[in-house]
Amino acid sequence: MGQQSRLPSEHPHWWRDAAIYQVYPRSFADGDGDGTGDLAGVRARLPYLAELGVDAVWFNPWYPSPMADGGYDVADYRGVDPLFGTLDEAEKLIAEALGLGIRTVVDIVPNHVSDQHPWFRAALATSPGSPERELFHFRPGRGEGGELPPNDWVSEFGGCPWTRLPDGEWYLHLFATQQPDLNWAHPEVRSEHEEILRFWFDRGAAGVRIDSAALLAKDPALPDFVRGRDPHPFTDREELHDIYRSWRAIADEYPGERILVGEVWLPDAERFARYLRPDELHTAFNFDFLARPWEARALRESIDGTLALHAPVGAPTTWVLCNHDVTRTVTRYGRRDTRFDFAGKTFGTPTDLALGRRRARAAALLSLALPGAVYLYQGEELGLPEVEDLPLDRLQDPMHLRSGGTDPGRDGCRVPLPWSGDRPPYGFSQAPAEPWLPQPADWADLTVEAQSARADSMLTLYRTALRLRRTEVALRGDEFGWLPSASEVLAFRRGADFRCVVNFGPRPVPLEQEVLLASGPLTADRQLPTDTAVWLRVG
Ligand code: NOJ
Repeated sequence: MGQQSRLPSEHPHWWRDAAIYQVYPRSFADGDGDGTGDLAGVRARLPYLAELGVDAVWFNPWYPSPMADGGYDVADYRGVDPLFGTLDEAEKLIAEALGLGIRTVVDIVPNHVSDQHPWFRAALATSPGSPERELFHFRPGRGEGGELPPNDWVSEFGGCPWTRLPDGEWYLHLFATQQPDLNWAHPEVRSEHEEILRFWFDRGAAGVRIDSAALLAKDPALPDFVRGRDPHPFTDREELHDIYRSWRAIADEYPGERILVGEVWLPDAERFARYLRPDELHTAFNFDFLARPWEARALRESIDGTLALHAPVGAPTTWVLCNHDVTRTVTRYGRRDTRFDFAGKTFGTPTDLALGRRRARAAALLSLALPGAVYLYQGEELGLPEVEDLPLDRLQDPMHLRSGGTDPGRDGCRVPLPWSGDRPPYGFSQAPAEPWLPQPADWADLTVEAQSARADSMLTLYRTALRLRRTEVALRGDEFGWLPSASEVLAFRRGADFRCVVNFGPRPVPLEQEVLLASGPLTADRQLPTDTAVWLRVG
């Protein structure tokens, strides 16, 4: 990669080192005062995103949806849910954001639709064997009366991924019951999604984030799952690469580098990289980095692995600390076990938030100094913690509901943002409407307003770091190298004159160079204390 300017409008390969901010529309800002975030709210807050210094925004689904899975149950891929606004507003939002130098990435959900999608309604209105049912995975059950599900698969949300209809057939849903899986072997499913891509590219979308990107293709026999048998019956199947090649060809028809971003959760790193070959996806989220514990060795291993994996396919690396599915960083890093693992989520895990915040600040400087693109999840820049004491009767996440109440689910990282004021709704809604998820009573210090006024706030740290990411020549391009350090320290250089040092250990680290930015106070004799990161200029 060359030494292009980072100003989005002048940057041809903008996605290779972009800072992409994830907006969860329900919880960003409420423009119409009904307690749910919406596009009017986002439009009013675009100057905030411009000031923050992000290059693009990825929106979680804004389509018409019964919201059985927070909008990932899509009833119409070409519209906007009335809760969020109108298609016209979405078009205006895309244009206005671009006017401020911010590109828009929309979320495409190809693995499944909502049970209210016209295709599925039509399939339900017909009988077994109908052409309408061929767009999905309908099967007779096993057992004498077909009373057992067609195979032994387990839903990604837990429980059985099959639901039986009154006419005796079962349909497959790898997620919630309300999210029937599409049959990607059907040509109409493919052509429909190609049209959907065009629909949003025609409206100015700079890219699409592809939901559950490794799950679309299924073994047509839908066999039982046998551990270790290749290929897997519903994950990472060869057919997917052909689908994404055709999507890439469509993206490449459009000017301005429209991108495909994959949500690819795969334990096998080599298999993951295959999605990033030059004629497939542009980038994919780095979930390996996200899941690692706050330890020098583990993070170094992830960074090395990531760089080694991406280089041969020529794809940029990405760095992700959190998103709308995972425990917020400030909370995770404040625990004894600082890894992220869906299976490990429990109610009542002891957390030291001051420790977590200190580490999250250091993690911000670490990830923003690495080569490649970075994804920021709304509220990360405010250092919001996971809200773990939401009233149980307010939880909406199917992950919680399907676990029989044992899994806390993902609502705790989706609580509406605090903008201003000293009590809920903290400027999230202009009207006194109650936010769709209650905000904590102690968030007055975390509002955008409060943090904007403080030089030592998380928001100020992110704003400053994002500004330096744009202006520091050394942070452009791919050049990266480790510097000698103790095992509890990560130290690397970018270019000739930029360094990042992160201290994970108990002993302070002496600093010789000019400090551009520090994630926390240095010791009295200018050493780098534990759980703190610095950006340094050499010479
Ligand atoms: C991944 C999304 O990030 C998550 O929020 C959603 O529940 C599932 N895919 C199903 O669409």
